Amino acid sequence: MSDTLPIVDLRSDTLSQPTQAMREAMATAEVGDDVFGEDPTVNRLQDRCAALFAKEAALFVPTGTMANLLAFLAQTRPGETIILHEDAHPYNYEAGNVAMIGGLMTRTLPGDLGILDRDTIAPCVIRTEDHHFSETSLIAVENTTNRGGGNIYPLETLREIRALADENGMKVHCDGARLFNAVVESGHSAQDFAEHCDTVSVCFSKGLGAPAGSILAGSAETIDTAHKFRKMLGGGMRQSGILAAAALHALDHHVERLAEDHRRASQFRTELEGLPGVSVPMPTPTNIVMLDVPDAAAFAAKIKGHGVLMMPMGRNRIRAVFHLDIDDEGLDRAIQACQSAF
Ligand SMILES: Cc1ncc(COP(=O)(O)O)c(C=O)c1O
Repeated sequence: MSDTLPIVDLRSDTLSQPTQAMREAMATAEVGDDVFGEDPTVNRLQDRCAALFAKEAALFVPTGTMANLLAFLAQTRPGETIILHEDAHPYNYEAGNVAMIGGLMTRTLPGDLGILDRDTIAPCVIRTEDHHFSETSLIAVENTTNRGGGNIYPLETLREIRALADENGMKVHCDGARLFNAVVESGHSAQDFAEHCDTVSVCFSKGLGAPAGSILAGSAETIDTAHKFRKMLGGGMRQSGILAAAALHALDHHVERLAEDHRRASQFRTELEGLPGVSVPMPTPTNIVMLDVPDAAAFAAKIKGHGVLMMPMGRNRIRAVFHLDIDDEGLDRAIQACQSAF
């Protein structure tokens, strides 16, 4: 490995560094005490996001994990069941918070590419007066799907899930950590996706390149309840306009460019597809490429020797995520590292 070349870090899009322009926007942000509701930059971000998703209100929170948890806490009661895809982030990677903090049961279901559909969910919905049962009160979808390779929910699938939820008096939450990747790739607006969900969260710290921060949007009542839970969980952040300024900068400057990440991810996939010993198990519509290899840990160690990092996602699967800090030179180096690993 060359000591002079920077590491090409494809483990996650959370690894991107704030740009100089983003740091300047943060440094000059007008701030106040957000726990008093007096941070003008946070308020601007919340208003802008509520409008973007055509919801009544939005709440700035430190992380995507907290946004998901607040959505569940604000729209369910302890003892109820939420339905999630078996690969969903809150089920796999949020430390069991829905059980410990929400007192919730999870019913996880399969579906291609991390995507649930009405027919799979419908038989598992329990709405009854019979006190034997835990009632199903919420369906959570993830758009784009992380373990599903960055795939995008078809609007029609969301429409059908929404109809099922309405027929049964249930809520729908969208974990939209990477919703803007879906927006840029599909040509649908954020509002088109959000329309079918009661609440939607988005992370600014992933492809959008901010150092921290997520938003949760929904009805005024739900967001008010979420605000109370945010306080309980210690998520009230005082002069958080410094972080909201990064998020606003990202919305202004880092949304359209996600298409570049998608183009590089697709090129990476195409170059590797033909290599013996590698298979590409899923389509790559956005910025996440999943590869199946004989030994993911050994593969990661080999490419690390060439200054390229990827994340093993199991014994045979490894993930590459394209983001703000990966340019065409980084793409070429990643391709070469993988080629020489075989
Ligand atoms: C789909 C999805 N949801 C939620 C999260 C949680 O975000 P955070 O790391 O900000 O808590 C992630 C993080 O990678 C994610 O990929």
